[in-house]
Amino acid sequence: MKILLNSCENVDTVIARECGPRIRTSCKSSNYLTTRADKKIDNHALFSIHNYIYYCVYLLCDHTARLFDKVRWWFFEEIESPMSCKSCKCAVGKSNVILVTGGGGYVGSHTVVELLNANYSVIAIDNLSNCFSSDKHEKPESLKRVEKITSKNIIFYNVDIRNSSDLDKVFKKHKISTVIHFAALKSVGESTQKPLAYYENNVMHANGVKSLVYSSSATVYGIPQFLPLTESHPTGQGCTNPYGKTKYFVEEIGKDLCTAYPDWKLISLRYFNPVGAHPSGIIGEDPSGIPNNLMPYISQVAVGRRDFLRVFGSDYDTVDGTGVRDYIHIIDLAVGHLRALEKISKPTFTGFQPYNLGTGRGYSVLEVVKAFEKASGKKIEYKLVERRPGDIATCYSDASFAKEELNWVAEKDIDEMCKDTWKWQSNNPNGFS
Ligand SMILES: NC(=O)c1ccc[n+]([C@@H]2O[C@H](COP(=O)([O-])OP(=O)(O)OC[C@H]3O[C@@H](n4cnc5c(N)ncnc54)[C@H](O)[C@@H]3O)[C@@H](O)[C@H]2O)c1
Repeated sequence: MKILLNSCENVDTVIARECGPRIRTSCKSSNYLTTRADKKIDNHALFSIHNYIYYCVYLLCDHTARLFDKVRWWFFEEIESPMSCKSCKCAVGKSNVILVTGGGGYVGSHTVVELLNANYSVIAIDNLSNCFSSDKHEKPESLKRVEKITSKNIIFYNVDIRNSSDLDKVFKKHKISTVIHFAALKSVGESTQKPLAYYENNVMHANGVKSLVYSSSATVYGIPQFLPLTESHPTGQGCTNPYGKTKYFVEEIGKDLCTAYPDWKLISLRYFNPVGAHPSGIIGEDPSGIPNNLMPYISQVAVGRRDFLRVFGSDYDTVDGTGVRDYIHIIDLAVGHLRALEKISKPTFTGFQPYNLGTGRGYSVLEVVKAFEKASGKKIEYKLVERRPGDIATCYSDASFAKEELNWVAEKDIDEMCKDTWKWQSNNPNGFS
């Protein structure tokens, strides 16, 4: 593999040749060049020229390996502004770059696929707290697989959004136009035991960019006063757990910010119940520990990781007594983010605006179980148990505002949600690890 290095200090042109575990170089200029390539990580290589250590990112996009960046990666605090890569579609040196926080997670990784397919330039950051990576210097496994699905490179930083100095470096290095903010802790149960961790981690960390697409949740509506839930339903009342409150608080902060500073714009996407996986079966939901959500629990029963499903409550006023929720395929949800980006980048868009992302119809727990059995050909054992405190009978969206304003509708039905979940789970019984 050949790597072309442009305009590095004291050297006009360097051709570096991959040679076993080492990188050998030859220099076309008359300048003296020393190279020490003793470390090779994934598709990145480190070598030094005139005692500078360069981090070389060579991408496989355009089927050409190109070295287009020089970054003192080991010394993150000394990052220099990158040279522009003229010929590839990666994010280095480009404007209109989307920063995805929590990009290694479930919704983040699926959204990155859609962003790359739509030719956005993507920078992903994640602190790896809830996504698998074999090494803290490596991209999360989910994003490596996204690169395989899309044949495009993702620039990734292991950054915690609470570390404003690390975040600043990312913002200085790239011309980021919009942030899609997924990074959060998301376990309702854990949030009741560790509320401060949730308030600390999930309440917004702003840095420079004033255009934000935010991952909110139907939990901001609390106990529904009417159904289907429209965006005008009151929020914050009856949010029974700290997780839901963090989503509500961030929306409130966003509203205040947009009122005080007219150059701020924020779209808050209120997700209903994201399920499913990429149709390739290469990426999907990989909860750590016991799944909190229904679909991954069912799929772990189907694959033999759990004995049976506990169905909480069978005496609700619903079609079969079990709770009804509005499940939405993860790809539909990811596409909703593209529509939000298009909307937020219009000069006419101002201020704060929430949109529901749901299908507008609900399925009971037992209906989901039946659909999953059909998709997987597996019997799902379950036991009906007591209601869980705080659970409600029925929750589903009115998603017509998103259709009207974002030109977005959810297209995939429950059968597709189950089929894609099963493909992912059966191909990856233990998730990414
Ligand atoms: N999945 C759902 O059912 C659902 C429903 C409604 C809303 N949401 C929201 O969508 C967003 C994404 O959810 P998800 O299901 O992909 O969760 P996830 O846990 O799979 O992904 C979140 C990612 O953020 C990272 N992260 C957490 N804290 C971080 C920090 N301080 N700095 C950097 N990275 C950090 C985690 O490592 C993880 O990879 C979250 O904000 C969540 O609250 C999810």
